[in-house]
Amino acid sequence: MPPRPLIRAAEIRRRVRELGREISAAHADRAPLLLLLMDGAFCFAADLAREIASPEARLAFLRVRSSGAGTESSGRVEMEALPELAGAHVVVVDDILDSGRTLAAVRAAALAAGSASVSTCVLLDKPSRRVPEGLARADHSGFTVPEAFLVGYGLDLDGRWRHLRDVCVLEP
Ligand code: IMP
Ligand code: MG
Repeated sequence: MPPRPLIRAAEIRRRVRELGREISAAHADRAPLLLLLMDGAFCFAADLAREIASPEARLAFLRVRSSGAGTESSGRVEMEALPELAGAHVVVVDDILDSGRTLAAVRAAALAAGSASVSTCVLLDKPSRRVPEGLARADHSGFTVPEAFLVGYGLDLDGRWRHLRDVCVLEP
């Protein structure tokens, strides 16, 4: 069965624009701004970055792995070395907040590395899946979604469906 559209591209575009304005406003007097982009969130990251008002902002991609094969995450978060971010106001950007382990780990690492502040931004929030040690909520969040496996707009299952324009539900 093909994935079923849940959030259409036009609606995503509108919300991403709002998130960009929100983050820009929140950082109007907090510079330098560094967008720390999770590599799996490349569609959202590319669109969001172009809605950030500050031309001085720096962008860095970070490779983080938490999931094994398929739809189940292993619970362990492996992260490559962080870029230089001492003194920077860091916004960590990911596609979806699920268990919350990934963003809790990246946020803690960014604080430990001497950033001036760390906030978090996700396109999607699946609150039903949160674990106690995970990040409870993102500072900036696009849509709350039900407990289903989602693909498209960067989200994948083992490398498939990432290039779909809509966020879709993958029916079992
Ligand atoms: P967390 O650490 O459990 O919050 O997981 C975050 C990561 O798991 C995200 O960056 C996604 O890569 C992946 N993930 C969580 N839920 C989904 C989903 O429904 N579809 C695709 N990837 C997901
Ligand atoms: Mg990811």
